[in-house]
Amino acid sequence: MPLLPLIMPCVDELLRMSRRAVLAALASVHPARGAAPVLVDCTAGNGHDTLFLAEAGGASCRVWAFDIQKEALIKARERVAAAGVAERVAFLLAGHEAIAEMLPAAVQGEITAAVFNLGFLPGSDKRQITRAASTLKALETLQTWLAPEGLISVHSYAGHPGGAEERAAVRRWFEGLAWSSWRVASYGFINKPNNPEELFLARKRA
Ligand SMILES: C[S@@+](CC[C@H](N)C(=O)[O-])C[C@H]1O[C@@H](n2cnc3c(N)ncnc32)[C@H](O)[C@@H]1O
Repeated sequence: MPLLPLIMPCVDELLRMSRRAVLAALASVHPARGAAPVLVDCTAGNGHDTLFLAEAGGASCRVWAFDIQKEALIKARERVAAAGVAERVAFLLAGHEAIAEMLPAAVQGEITAAVFNLGFLPGSDKRQITRAASTLKALETLQTWLAPEGLISVHSYAGHPGGAEERAAVRRWFEGLAWSSWRVASYGFINKPNNPEELFLARKRA
């Protein structure tokens, strides 16, 4: 294995770990299947992850970006349009729990990567948080809609009301995935003073 691509901070930020995992999923799913990448931003917010997905997925990709806040989607759309990749993204004013209703049936089993950034959108209404019940419903759908070798990435925060409970529910759900079909890892910092964060990365085995 060449050494250079392995060079990175020896303990990295969780956002960067998530993004590297998306790149790895893109690299392993598509050459094998020959289909265009299908990517889902389950919590679009201000669109940082949406833009990353649209750029990483390349010209042929389709990104589905969910958020329940209209203002968030407006900002996300502006960010993606400013980068010139808006035609790759469908913005959906809907909860991610509606993935099965909002995405075409043709992408069942074809999703390359789905990312969640849980919690609330900094600088906006802190009551508009993600919640365990809807997050788990989306995960249930993704369990079957993901392509072989596809990725689910869930970045969770426990510092806001309800955050610790949601994170625990997500952890229990991932713990229940069969070892024969899934590899799930979690990462977190044990010395972060505030707002503990944890990243769950799940790969569906081919
Ligand atoms: C931490 S923010 C996401 C930040 C975003 N990734 C970015 O790049 O700016 C969480 C977002 O999840 C949204 N949200 C809450 N419940 C949701 C649901 N059921 N489905 C989709 N989005 C939801 C919130 O409106 C908020 O914008």
